[in-house]
Amino acid sequence: MLKIGVLVSGGGTNLQAIIDSIESGYITNAKIVTVISGNPDAYALERAKKHGINGVCIRKKDYLDEDDYLNAMAEHLDSLGVELIVLAGFMTVLGKKFIDRYKNKIINIHPALIPSFCGDGFYGLRVHKAALDKGVKVTGATVHFVNEETDGGPIILQKAVYVEEGDTPEILQKRVMEQAEWKIFPEAIKLISEGKIVVEGNKVRRLV
Ligand code: GAR
Repeated sequence: MLKIGVLVSGGGTNLQAIIDSIESGYITNAKIVTVISGNPDAYALERAKKHGINGVCIRKKDYLDEDDYLNAMAEHLDSLGVELIVLAGFMTVLGKKFIDRYKNKIINIHPALIPSFCGDGFYGLRVHKAALDKGVKVTGATVHFVNEETDGGPIILQKAVYVEEGDTPEILQKRVMEQAEWKIFPEAIKLISEGKIVVEGNKVRRLV
């Protein structure tokens, strides 16, 4: 059983999609052992509580420096035997040391088709605003492993979503979540938990 730690910052709809996929039996070989939020008011923590999942708030500002903060995070994850760290709308950048320590063990969901609309400064609604400003007709979501380059790690799954006439960033964000994020994030976790994902250099190979 793959032990998962989910890192969140806000509403936690992706966390909810993962919880639902485990409870419905879509994911059978993984369980969430902790939810960590950088924000004590994150609704994601409520969601964890409702489902009897350990939820904690670990805030950068409560530590001496970034190193100290990330060490505390790692200690918590290691104490619970976490094998896969899932960034579900987690808005804090993780340092290189932390990323190296968990090489190919951290996955992230990004609300666009990487390499479009990604990298530093592209998060949340800003991503959808940039897509609309560019006038793209198709956008989507990407699940990828996290490496030292923001949104640059090996891509696991992507799903396309059509942009429609009259879309606002909010409308597009909702459609991308419903049609792509809440599907491919649980699917990626299922594949990883079943040992069907192999990282080869900067690419992912999916075993059938
Ligand atoms: C999601 O749309 C996720 O893709 C995005 O934040 C939202 C979190 O929503 N993540 C990023 O932009 C990371 N670069 P949620 O808290 O409801 O899951």
